[in-house]
Amino acid sequence: MKYILVTGGAGYIGSHTVIELIDAGYEPVILDDFSNATPESFARLEKLCNRSLILSRGACTDAAHVRKLFKTYPFEGVIHFAAFKAVGESVDHPEKYYHNNLVGLLTILNALEEYKVRKLVFSSSCTVYGIPKEGGSVFEETPLGIPNSPYGWTKFMGEQMIRDFVAKGNIDAVLLRYFNPIGAHPSGMIGELPIGVPNNIVPFITQTASGIRKQLIVFGEDYNTEDGTCIRDYIHVCDLAKAHIAALKSPMNQNPEIYNLGTGKGTSVLELIAAFEAATGKPLNWRFGPRRVGDVPEIFANADKAKKDLNWSAKYTVNEALVDAWRWEQNRLNT
Ligand code: WQD
Repeated sequence: MKYILVTGGAGYIGSHTVIELIDAGYEPVILDDFSNATPESFARLEKLCNRSLILSRGACTDAAHVRKLFKTYPFEGVIHFAAFKAVGESVDHPEKYYHNNLVGLLTILNALEEYKVRKLVFSSSCTVYGIPKEGGSVFEETPLGIPNSPYGWTKFMGEQMIRDFVAKGNIDAVLLRYFNPIGAHPSGMIGELPIGVPNNIVPFITQTASGIRKQLIVFGEDYNTEDGTCIRDYIHVCDLAKAHIAALKSPMNQNPEIYNLGTGKGTSVLELIAAFEAATGKPLNWRFGPRRVGDVPEIFANADKAKKDLNWSAKYTVNEALVDAWRWEQNRLNT
């Protein structure tokens, strides 16, 4: 059995990656405290995988619990997703974010060393680039910027913690910098389910279209972009999941390899709204509002390195991701 510890494996990106791991012949062991997942969503994941999954309910900050897992399973590697990720909440509760995201990561790093597991794939974020200098395209070598929130700082510091552990020589790592994950598994059985009011735009769009939210507010119309709204690189969560398998299989050397996981294309908020309406036939109730503090005007990936090294590139279009997100929203409301 090729056991892989998947922390946060019951969450949005984690659950989509569990499916790809099984397809690739790995045996995922999911460590999740269900702070961003539910027993029902986990049951849907098992149904989609058509098998039961190894689940250990617990937090990465619980060192005894983590060590017990490493003692039980001869892990080939770890994919570390588990982290709080709401930008706004991290501003209100930095203590929660630094503890959960950084102590959780440190516990995993210590366990990797103690139980001589060498491979770590880390879920990082384009937020570490801060506000890109020229234009919006960033390479992996683009100098890091100032993250826009304590959440962003936990990704920035997390990358540094990993670099320092790798420099000791006991573990190897790949850092995956996500751009904006959107969409859902085409089956419509699993998808993004933010708890409470969605921070991210696509779940807010789908919940507005389904009538759960009254109206989408577009945060700002006066940015220095073609239509005045912010530009992002929206990538289908299934494309993102596949990149983790490629990263796991990649030859890891001393310095952590870093990969941008994006489509390489920027989409503005207005373009996203228009694409959703065209792709689903659902007119959206929206209006302009003030800018949101901390928003980056424009950022999108240069994803050439992942293509070259991992033979990976995004296959789904933004339209397909929006259709899949809408199908998931309709399915989850009808079950
Ligand atoms: C996208 C665009 C908003 C909501 C964050 C994190 C990133 C990653 C993904 C976790 C922006 C606009 C949004 C709304 C809007 N984190 N917007 N109205 O901020 O690019 O990235 O989430 O996985 O690390 O930084 O994503 O979806 O919140 O915003 O106009 O109600 O949509 O201003 O331009 P963001 P987002």
